[in-house]
Amino acid sequence: MKKVLALVLAALMVFSLVACSGSGKDETSAPDTSAPEEKATLVMATNAAFPPYEFKEGDSFAGIDVEIAGKIAEKLGMTLEIKDVEFGSIVGGVQTGKFDMGMAGMTVTDERLKSVNFSDSYATGIQVVIVKEDSAIKSLDDLKGDGSMKFGVQQDTTGDIYASDTVENGGYGKDNVVRYKTGADAVQALKTGKVDAVIIDNEPAKSFVSANEGLSILDGSWVEENYAIAIAKENTELLEKVNNALKELTADGTVKSIIDKYIPAE
Ligand code: ARG
Repeated sequence: MKKVLALVLAALMVFSLVACSGSGKDETSAPDTSAPEEKATLVMATNAAFPPYEFKEGDSFAGIDVEIAGKIAEKLGMTLEIKDVEFGSIVGGVQTGKFDMGMAGMTVTDERLKSVNFSDSYATGIQVVIVKEDSAIKSLDDLKGDGSMKFGVQQDTTGDIYASDTVENGGYGKDNVVRYKTGADAVQALKTGKVDAVIIDNEPAKSFVSANEGLSILDGSWVEENYAIAIAKENTELLEKVNNALKELTADGTVKSIIDKYIPAE
């Protein structure tokens, strides 16, 4: 008897489940509020070897971009998911929708604007040159694209683009440039004498110089660059949301306090 009852109950449960999850053709299509609220994910691509903007701290990510992105996701009611990829694959991945956004101390350039949109700028960067303290290269004027010295860069960055340009265009010629996967690798190559100078953004340069003995930054710098968040051209909805979030986070001082936390005033 018990068995029969159990069977009947089981059948009833199955029936009611089916009823609940029915196609609802006969109901007005009200949103399914019975399901637990699942937050959508905001997938951010970065290249986490670029302190103080993004770097790894054990298994997790830290840095200015990581924290600002966290606040943006919070405002959007989304969960931030960070993907650590090669810098040069960020723009393409954003363009094809593999990532929702790219945030990597990324400079807005005309070339990149052909593939993606950029949010409003949230920070600036300047290209600088790191050399060994005891280097014969003492100033920017000592840098020559005549084959007598090698320049280390992170591949696909603006430092790479400028340095690889022809001497006539203000670069050092691509044959004199050695391209590394990360800025940290380029700095390592400088330390071991594989290159004579590294061209990279100023804040990462400062981080690398303070973390490594015997390096210094040459006085003087090139153009100031604007950092912004890359978003697919079609995804204007996200672009607008991100810009609104950035506006609010700038107005209430959040962006500044995050930047100040990682870049202490000198
Ligand atoms: N600002 C430079 C650029 O946009 C370098 C950025 C490198 N960023 C990174 N996370 N590795 O090309």
